[in-house]
Amino acid sequence: MSNNLLKGKKGIIFGALDENSIAWKTALACHAQGAELVLTNAPIALRMGTINKLAEITGAPVIPADVTSNEDVENLFTKSMEHFGGGVDFILHSIGMSINVRKGIHYTENNYEFTHKGLDISALSLHRVLATAMKLDAINEWGSVVALSYIAAQRIFPDYNDMADNKAYLESIARNFGYQYGIKKNVRINTVSQSPTRTTAGSGVKGFDGFVSYAEKMSPLGNATAEQCADYCVTLFSDLTKMVTMQNLFHDGGYFHRR
Ligand SMILES: NC(=O)c1ccc[n+]([C@@H]2O[C@H](COP(=O)([O-])OP(=O)(O)OC[C@H]3O[C@@H](n4cnc5c(N)ncnc54)[C@H](O)[C@@H]3O)[C@@H](O)[C@H]2O)c1
Repeated sequence: MSNNLLKGKKGIIFGALDENSIAWKTALACHAQGAELVLTNAPIALRMGTINKLAEITGAPVIPADVTSNEDVENLFTKSMEHFGGGVDFILHSIGMSINVRKGIHYTENNYEFTHKGLDISALSLHRVLATAMKLDAINEWGSVVALSYIAAQRIFPDYNDMADNKAYLESIARNFGYQYGIKKNVRINTVSQSPTRTTAGSGVKGFDGFVSYAEKMSPLGNATAEQCADYCVTLFSDLTKMVTMQNLFHDGGYFHRR
């Protein structure tokens, strides 16, 4: 269904790896609502994933950027502005990775080099994206930025490991940069705390199926799907939510208050 909620808007979507990615579904939903897109992911993810298929469907260029590189992120914004002939109206940050999780290293025994890398990719990257955008004046007035989070930022999920700390940091950056970008240019910044969702990143967490079925039972509405998350992001990118900023918004079928 399309209501052209994003007609005339231009956005950058980070993190579409394959068809299961929340970013993939969000790109499709934004495209269906009339937005023009630039897609981006880390160079290695571009080689391993299937982003070219999404690029074809949405008519969007793919610009590689490793979010831990200042140079890559700057190049991404410069090229996107050239492509659009001006600034962007929305950005989806849909990026997460923990080497400690991948390698099954217990939280109490985390390897700090891995911790640093995961924090840089999963949380500091939001700061880097926003700081670069501000420096280049790449986001239009009343633009909207959404980053994806998880309830482990507030509650204990031992197997979520250091990603819990990364999400707490990510949500804090959204609040603090939301203040700065709000007073500077009325740009709004929020995090969406999504239900557990079967994707490459999600399935990497130990006991993930347990998370999914427990949350499904506990949430009065059941788990929110990736498609529903995409629809929610569309509303946050649209002009219907202009005064929402610096929030962590639970998109979880009511799970937060049941746990
Ligand atoms: N799947 C879940 O259960 C769930 C729940 C809540 C929140 N989230 C969050 O949603 C977001 C998207 O994850 P997903 O579940 O769609 O999985 P996904 O694996 O499809 O997406 C993660 C993306 O991060 C990208 N990425 C990793 N390192 C990068 C780097 N250095 N530079 C640029 N991009 C990099 C990957 O290439 C990938 O596209 C993440 O922030 C994740 O934590 C997921």
